[in-house]
Amino acid sequence: MRLFVAIMPPAHAVDELEAATAPLRPAWPQLRWTSHDAWHVTLAFLGEVDEVAADRLMPRLHRAAGRHKSLSLAFGGAGAFPDSGRARVLWTGLHGDRRALAALCGSVAASARRVGIPQPDEGRPFRPHLTLARCRAPADVHALVAALSGYAGTPWTVERIHLVRSHLGQAHPRYEDLGSWALRA
Ligand code: 2AM
Repeated sequence: MRLFVAIMPPAHAVDELEAATAPLRPAWPQLRWTSHDAWHVTLAFLGEVDEVAADRLMPRLHRAAGRHKSLSLAFGGAGAFPDSGRARVLWTGLHGDRRALAALCGSVAASARRVGIPQPDEGRPFRPHLTLARCRAPADVHALVAALSGYAGTPWTVERIHLVRSHLGQAHPRYEDLGSWALRA
């Protein structure tokens, strides 16, 4: 099964971001906007993992979560991968406890490593983001990134990490929450 570990923004942060992006969408028909009820911030993409490894991972994630304090984040600004001139992915960034977020990410990656799950993105710098839209063909999204550059959402508290299964579908993947574990209060 295809797995990743993520944090989930609360409804108020999702609603704000939805309100900020909705007016921009009609002008960008070449983008496939992600559905806001599935919005998440990936901490680690694990790829294909067998059931045995997934079962062994869960108690590790539980312990890892307990070693980190809950943190405060806010969505803000925008950017594109690989860059705004030939974007495949449009994203909004995260402000706030980014250092703590990176440390949490490191613990999640170590948990996966210890149960023998190799990570496809190992070694790449962690660039926390929420994917707003994807483009089939590289697109110039400078104007869109500029339009969202001043966006600054209300801070929210990250209280849990989630292990999520991704079911790839025709239009959008469907995400299934396999478990979640609380950070330290
Ligand atoms: P993205 O939002 O930047 O596309 C499920 O696919 C989640 O894992 C998505 O949030 C996706 O990030 C993330 N992810 C990270 N690396 C990935 C990869 N190599 N392939 C697919 N998804 C990846």
